[in-house]
Amino acid sequence: MSTLYVFNDKSAAQADVVTQDLAEIARVLATKGIRFEQWEANFPITAESTSEEILAAYGDSIAQLKEEGGYQTADVINMTPDHPDKIALRNKFLSEHTHSEDEVRFFVKGDGLFYLHLDDGVYAVQCCKNDLISVPANTQHWFDMGDSPNFTAVRLFTNPDGWVANFTGEKIADEFPRYEALAK
Ligand SMILES: [Fe+2]
Repeated sequence: MSTLYVFNDKSAAQADVVTQDLAEIARVLATKGIRFEQWEANFPITAESTSEEILAAYGDSIAQLKEEGGYQTADVINMTPDHPDKIALRNKFLSEHTHSEDEVRFFVKGDGLFYLHLDDGVYAVQCCKNDLISVPANTQHWFDMGDSPNFTAVRLFTNPDGWVANFTGEKIADEFPRYEALAK
């Protein structure tokens, strides 16, 4: 279930705010410049839907966001618990990093946990089916998909080649509860 935890960045033991109210999650994140919203499909998709069908089902929302954010391309990624590289893929984004462009994800199914380090807060957002999150360029963050990752997500890019992680070298991510502790 979509959930927001707000921690002080010096106090990982206890969240100051926990909410599953979608409007409240969006409101709190918007105060920090983070876009969080829900999309509806133009037509139903199934477990067998292809990437092309998924992109078409959310085509209106994707087109609108491309226009607003200047994104050029969209693709679909799929993570399953039997993915042979799931441990390496989880670990890859489990340390604090930034990107030189926005990290935009729409969850078609399943879930993942973004941790956004904004000013003196850590905003942990469990994104689930129908959730769109846009992490602005140069925002310090990390991402946890858990040890049994299971999600399908649409990604939007300005330039896919530029979407690399620049690690901050900070150990803050190790101090905060992981997916297993926070995901609902
Ligand atoms: Fe990232």
